[in-house]
Amino acid sequence: MCGIVGYIGNREASPILLSGLKRLEYRGYDSAGLALIEDFPAIAENGQRHSGIHAVGRLVVEKCKGKVTDLEAMAADHPHHATIGIGHTRWATHGAPSDVNSHPQTDESGRIAIIHNGIIENYSHIKDRLLARGHTFKSETDTEVLAHLIGEFYVDGRSLTEAVRLALNEVVGAYGIAVLAADAPEEIVCARKGSPLVLGVGSDNENFIASDAAAIIAHTRQVIYLADNEMATVTRAGIKTRTISNVEITKPVEVIEMELEAIEKGGYDHFMLKEIHEQPRTITDAMRGRVVEEEGNIVLGGLQSHLDELRQAKRLILTACGTSFHAALIGKYMIEQYARVPVEVEYASEFRYRNPIIEEGDVMFGISQSGETADTLAAMREGKGKGALALGIVNVVGSTIARESNGGVYIHAGPEIGVASTKAFTSQLTVLSLLTIMLGRMRHLSVVDGRAMIRKLLEIPEKVQRTLESTERQIRELSDTFKNASNFLYLGRGYNYPVALEGALKLKEISYIHAEGYPAAEMKHGPIALIDENMPVVVVAPQDEVYEKVLSNIQEVRARKGHVIAIATEGDEQIGALAEQVIYIPATLSMLTPILSVIPLQLLSYYIATARGCNVDQPRNLAKSVTVE
Ligand code: M6R
Repeated sequence: MCGIVGYIGNREASPILLSGLKRLEYRGYDSAGLALIEDFPAIAENGQRHSGIHAVGRLVVEKCKGKVTDLEAMAADHPHHATIGIGHTRWATHGAPSDVNSHPQTDESGRIAIIHNGIIENYSHIKDRLLARGHTFKSETDTEVLAHLIGEFYVDGRSLTEAVRLALNEVVGAYGIAVLAADAPEEIVCARKGSPLVLGVGSDNENFIASDAAAIIAHTRQVIYLADNEMATVTRAGIKTRTISNVEITKPVEVIEMELEAIEKGGYDHFMLKEIHEQPRTITDAMRGRVVEEEGNIVLGGLQSHLDELRQAKRLILTACGTSFHAALIGKYMIEQYARVPVEVEYASEFRYRNPIIEEGDVMFGISQSGETADTLAAMREGKGKGALALGIVNVVGSTIARESNGGVYIHAGPEIGVASTKAFTSQLTVLSLLTIMLGRMRHLSVVDGRAMIRKLLEIPEKVQRTLESTERQIRELSDTFKNASNFLYLGRGYNYPVALEGALKLKEISYIHAEGYPAAEMKHGPIALIDENMPVVVVAPQDEVYEKVLSNIQEVRARKGHVIAIATEGDEQIGALAEQVIYIPATLSMLTPILSVIPLQLLSYYIATARGCNVDQPRNLAKSVTVE
């Protein structure tokens, strides 16, 4: 979604803001912009300039539809000397992507500039009021309305902080904002409700603001996370925090551990490919320090204070969106098979609005790579508010879901930059496997069975490595054959039904080919009508409990001249006679097959998309973390 960067210090602001925006490009955006307050040293009577004295600055805004490189070119054409500024990448919500709808937006007087992530829900009501007072608006955005509202309050000698605060008291919706004013050239005011903001504490009279720590870690690792309904006044000298209801607060300074290499491509053409290849390591990281092999058991630090509730849980509710939802579906199969606890899986976007029934003994898990997905966060709040224990399975450390949960487990996949989720998915599955063993051992699973499962799990990173090595070339060649297909069908059963859903999602989001995932046996209830000689059908068919059934489904596709690409277990010769192409994965426990079977599907979507010339890291219309509903 949109990205925010802010800087105040003694260095030129533009390059710092532009490089920060580039680090946020992966979040998805359609336009970008900067607002700077040009240094305007006061002129003494003798005409000499007093350097470093700011009375009132000149607010300049540069913005355009397109990429950060377009903005960079624009900034190079119009150089401005400024040591304070804010930068934004926009993902359109109100108003199409255009120069005028890009952020920053300014107020009626043109002396205030604001950048905003989120949605102001009551903007049309506020706009009507302002129109009646004679305001005129240039853009279609809700953000411009907020800029004008702040301007209305920025009168009578009020501070910018107070003007922003009063304006926000009238706002319904979600926001992460940063605000500059020409006549307050020594401060940036920022606030958050529902959209993440992190403040970077610099070492040399400089401070930073960002919607994602990736934008500022090249400069500082010391950060303050703003929580909902909090705001900050950021100056060169320091950061003052308060609540939007005006109570001063002291926030802890935390140290982020993210390494710079983790957010760079490291020689790969795309972040997505790098992240696919990182999986042997990220899966290992998800298990690190959590396995007690001898006891056939698992220790998950973030759940230790909730072991009784987990032992007594009558039902688990897993809620998530997109790829994380697919991981949740597999989690249900695992937990119900081995821990024998009923599990419900629900799209967070549905859960939050349908008045779900929460009863004593319900434990909820919100699964989210970013930890910021608006629907998942709202579902967690709904469940928690109704009395469920709310736990998170999250990647981004310090994210909102991680902070608001009663406890949880980090998946430790490291920054995932490619919009198409890959390594986060396999790490989520790894953590769900750990959880399954832990819950199972609390109930019916013997130490011997626990140990056997752990051994199989420990083998997975090496098997993922083997899968990558043995399948990549074959898949690259195959992609060339199928790159012009208009539709794909993905089929799987049991543990691999959600893998079929995930394979289809990966393909459509980055290659724009229409793809459907189905439980293999459901094909005959409708989708079979689509099958002809133009339809490639990817069938995930490892040798598990439903293998024979899936073979019958393959026969049904072949009988209608569909092209079958099978994902099968190494050594399976039978399937070779039925499928046009077979991609082999190593054998493992059925529960763990999705971690292996999804690898060829990730590669297939990657190579088809690149063969079609698509921008796989920043697919059209998509955003990495979806912080609006
Ligand atoms: O950050 P989250 O895991 O909460 O995100 C959920 C979905 O938005 C995400 O998985 C999305 O579907 C990905 N683009 C899939 O590749």
